Amino acid sequence: MTKPRLWITRRLSDATLERATRDYDVVINHDDQPGTANQLITASAEFDAIIPCHSEHFSADVVAQFSDRLKIVANHSVGVDHCNLPALKGRGIAVTNTPDVLSDATAELAMLLMLGAARHAVAGDKIVRTGAWDSWSPAFMVGKQLTGARLGIIGMGRVGRAFAAKARGFDMEIHYYNRTELPADQAIGAVYHDTVESLLGVADFLSLHCPATPETTNLMNADRLALLPQGAVIVNTARGALVDEDALIAAIETRQVAAAGLDCFKVEPGGNPAFAAYDNIFMLPHIGSATRQTRDAMGFRALDNLDAFFAGQTPRDLL
Ligand code: DGY
Repeated sequence: MTKPRLWITRRLSDATLERATRDYDVVINHDDQPGTANQLITASAEFDAIIPCHSEHFSADVVAQFSDRLKIVANHSVGVDHCNLPALKGRGIAVTNTPDVLSDATAELAMLLMLGAARHAVAGDKIVRTGAWDSWSPAFMVGKQLTGARLGIIGMGRVGRAFAAKARGFDMEIHYYNRTELPADQAIGAVYHDTVESLLGVADFLSLHCPATPETTNLMNADRLALLPQGAVIVNTARGALVDEDALIAAIETRQVAAAGLDCFKVEPGGNPAFAAYDNIFMLPHIGSATRQTRDAMGFRALDNLDAFFAGQTPRDLL
C-alpha cells in the first residue's frame, strides 16, 4: 500500500521525525522557517496531510486556494487560532490538535513567569550579571509573595487545571472563571466566578489560560485591568491576542499592575519592543511547551491523529 504523503512544516523532535519517516512518505522542512501562504497552497496539491505548527496560518483566503488533495491538517499545537476552522472544514479537510500533552510544561512555565515577575527576576539577574550589585538593604528588591495570595485563573481547561495544581503547592487560594463551573473533583476547592469581572476583583495574581477567539481578543483591556487589586501580577502563557498591550503598559506605569510575566505577544516572533523598557515585565519567547518530553509527546499525538485518520478511524483530537 502506498504511504500517504505528509508535509511537516517545521523541525519537530527527532523521535517524531523518525516515526513520521517510517510511516509516511514524508517531506520535512529542515530549514525550519514558517511555511508561507504560497507553500501551504502548493502543499495542498502535493500532500495528503500536513503537520503544521502555530506558525503556519491557514486563513480563509489561503484555504480557498487549496487543491482537493489535502485531507488532514494534524496540528502540532493545542491552540488552533492559526487555523480558520470553518474554512478548512468547509473544504472537507479534517483538523486535529494536541491537547493534554503540553499542559504540565505550560503550567510549569506559567509558574516560572509568575515567580519571576513577582520577585524581580529581570532586574535581579541584570544587576548581578552586569556587576552593578554593590549594596544590599532590607528594602532591596522587595517582591510579592505567592503563599496565601489569591490566584485568579481565566480558563480552567487542561492547562488552567494543571497550573492550579502547581499553585496549590504554593498554598495559593485559587479562584477561576470558566464558561462552565467545574465538577467538585476538578475544581478541588477552587472558587468559581461566573463573570471575568467578579474574578478580577480578587485576583492578586492573574493567569490566562483561555484560547484566542474573536470573543477573547483584548480580554484584558484597560477597563478590566482597572478591576484588579492594586499591584496585581499578570501571567500570560496562552496567546498574545488576549491582552491589550498598550493598556498593560499604562497599568504598569501607574503600578495598578505591579509586574507581568509574558510568554505570548500580539506580534510573534518578535514581541513588543515597548515592553523592554520595563524590568517588571518578565518575558519569554513562546516556549511554554518547549521541553523535550513534551515536544515528543506533541509530535506523537499529531502522528496518532494521522494514523487514526488514514486507518479510517476518527482521530482522537478531531476538532
Ligand atoms: C500550542 O500548542 O498552542 C502552543 O502555543 C505551541 O504552539
